[in-house]
Amino acid sequence: MPTGPQIILTLKVLVVAVTLLLLASLVALVRQQPRRHGQINTVFFILTLLTVAAFEAVLQWIDVSATFDDDARQALRTHLWFAVPAALVLPAMFLSGKMRKIQLHIVLAVIFSILWTGTVITGLGLPH
Ligand code: HEM
Repeated sequence: MPTGPQIILTLKVLVVAVTLLLLASLVALVRQQPRRHGQINTVFFILTLLTVAAFEAVLQWIDVSATFDDDARQALRTHLWFAVPAALVLPAMFLSGKMRKIQLHIVLAVIFSILWTGTVITGLGLPH
C-alpha cells in the first residue's frame, strides 16, 4: 500500500510535468507553430486523463481515512473540485482544436485555464 505522502508527492510531480507540457504548447502557439501546439497537447491530454484516472483508482483502492488525516482529505477534495472538471473539459478542447473551431477552442481555453490554475495551486499546496 502506498503511503499518503508517497501518493501526494507522485501527484505533485505529475501535475508539474504535464503543466510544463501545457506551457510548451503555448510557447509553440506564440511561435506560430499550431501543429506543434496540437501535438504537444495531444500528449498532455492523454497523460492528464491517465493521471486523473489513476489517482481516482488509487483513492478507491486505498483506505482513504487511514491514509490521510482530516486536513489532507479536505485539501484533496478541494484539489479534485478543480482537477476533475478540468479533465472533463479536455476532450472538448482537443476536439475543438482538431476541428479548428477556434472561437469555441478559445472560450474553452479560458475556462480550462482557470480550472488548471486551480488544479496546480491546490495540487502543489497539498500536505505531504
Ligand atoms: C489553454 C490554452 C490554449 C489556448 C490559448 C489554445 C489556443 C489554440 C489556438 C489559437 C489554436 C489555433 C492555432 C492555429 O491554427 O493558428 C489551437 C489549435 C489547437 N489546439 Fe489549442 N489552445 C489551448 C489549449 C489546448 C489544449 C489543452 C488542447 C488539447 C487538449 C489543445 C488542442 C489543440 C489542437 C489539437 C489544435 C489544432 C492544431 C493543428 O492545427 O494541428 N489546445 N489552440
